[in-house]
Amino acid sequence: MNCCIVGLQWGDEGKGKIVDILAEHSDIVVRYSGGANAGHTVVVGDSRFALHILPSGAIRPNTVCVIASAVVVDPDVLIKGIQTLAQKNITLTKRLFISENAHIVLDYHKKEDQLREEALGKNKLGTTIRGIGPCYADKVGRSYTVRMGDLRDLEKLKARLQTIVDYKNKIFAALYKAEPISADEIFEKCKSYADKLLPFTIDTTEFLHKAIAGGKSILFEGAQGTLLDLDHGTFPFVTSSNSSALGMPAGCGVPAKMVDKLIGVAKAYTTRVGAGPFPTEQDNEIGQYIRDKGQEYGTTTGRPRRCGWFDAVAVSYAVTIGAIDCIALMHLDTLTGLKEIKIATAYEINGKQTSFFPANTTRLSKAECIYETVSGWEEDITTVSNFDDLPLNAQNYICRIEENTGKPITIIGVGPERNQTIFR
Ligand code: GDP
Ligand code: IMO
Ligand code: MG
Repeated sequence: MNCCIVGLQWGDEGKGKIVDILAEHSDIVVRYSGGANAGHTVVVGDSRFALHILPSGAIRPNTVCVIASAVVVDPDVLIKGIQTLAQKNITLTKRLFISENAHIVLDYHKKEDQLREEALGKNKLGTTIRGIGPCYADKVGRSYTVRMGDLRDLEKLKARLQTIVDYKNKIFAALYKAEPISADEIFEKCKSYADKLLPFTIDTTEFLHKAIAGGKSILFEGAQGTLLDLDHGTFPFVTSSNSSALGMPAGCGVPAKMVDKLIGVAKAYTTRVGAGPFPTEQDNEIGQYIRDKGQEYGTTTGRPRRCGWFDAVAVSYAVTIGAIDCIALMHLDTLTGLKEIKIATAYEINGKQTSFFPANTTRLSKAECIYETVSGWEEDITTVSNFDDLPLNAQNYICRIEENTGKPITIIGVGPERNQTIFR
């Protein structure tokens, strides 16, 4: 069986935890979009892993990990990720495969990301400064980009890098009066990337299709979340890839119809890092309660996450455009102790009610939420393993979300650890 895991909100829904759990029954885990902007947490006993480029199946010793073509690979982060796991005796030899067609994030991409954000001042997007936008822009522009397979011919790459860096330096100087970067330094780094990463670099599309033909089960791991999708999210406050389920086929060359099940991951409330509209945001003591209790600080940047109520309008939209079959609802434990809990069930925009999420920042910014309010619970639920053992109000909350999103909630998170999970 092939499954795809995708975030239904603005990222950080708990995808890493779900992928790690489901990887136990999968042969291969595939990252298909984004880059080191992602931070996927896996907690196993006392160990806490933050994966940025490596698929979250990496923690399982026998799971094959694939980094597919549409991932923008930051080799520094990837190599560090491989080393961190090696220190914990988790080796990726013979089970990590990186697409030769994946584009590489180089230092000038990170520099450009930073310079652009600084120049935008209060209008900045709040990116992770991981060079994601500039690298995807170069990919689309086609002329000034380096792919993993290009590391195979270093002589040719050296000349190309000189052309690219000359071009970038002209732009950096003209627009930002920035210091030039050195093509030689970047080339030296590329030599080391070639050494360390070429042994893992293959045609991943061929590999995946052969694996599917051979009956292997594959787990496709989305990064970010549907509302950060470049084309279908809250543009321009999005990332630069198709981070919804729609990005999976293009991201790895495997058609959507080869996926048997799409599991959407959502938090029992909503969070967002970076700028952009957020209709259910609670910039008050409720948001602070959620932030403190859920430890809502970015896995990649450490920034405090903006917190708010569950938005059934937004999640239903993600379910619709992703053809999501069922939902994994995480962080139910974080809501413990709140007297009342709200679910946004519709928006009012310019005096008109709608329950279809407008992926349009101008209209979304005007959305007033229409809420349904349910009673909270006080009991500690972090050790509950059966749905029926949850407090009745927590059970009711789950049922209200199912009703409002039209999809069954088949997995419930009650804590960060593998075993703090309820399956229905
Ligand atoms: P991802 O980007 O979707 O993989 O999510 P992140 O790892 O960035 O953020 C999710 C955070 O919530 C991590 O710190 C997880 O360890 C934690 N987490 C995941 N599921 C649960 C849950 O059900 N309850 C609690 N309290 N924490 C969870
Ligand atoms: P995971 O996979 C949450 C957000 C950034 C910013 C916007 C653009 O851990 O869920 P970028 O660096 O991509 O150009 O930033 O997207 N963002 C994320 N927010 N989780 C993520 O990944 C994110 N990846 C990017 O905060 O608002
Ligand atoms: Mg994250």
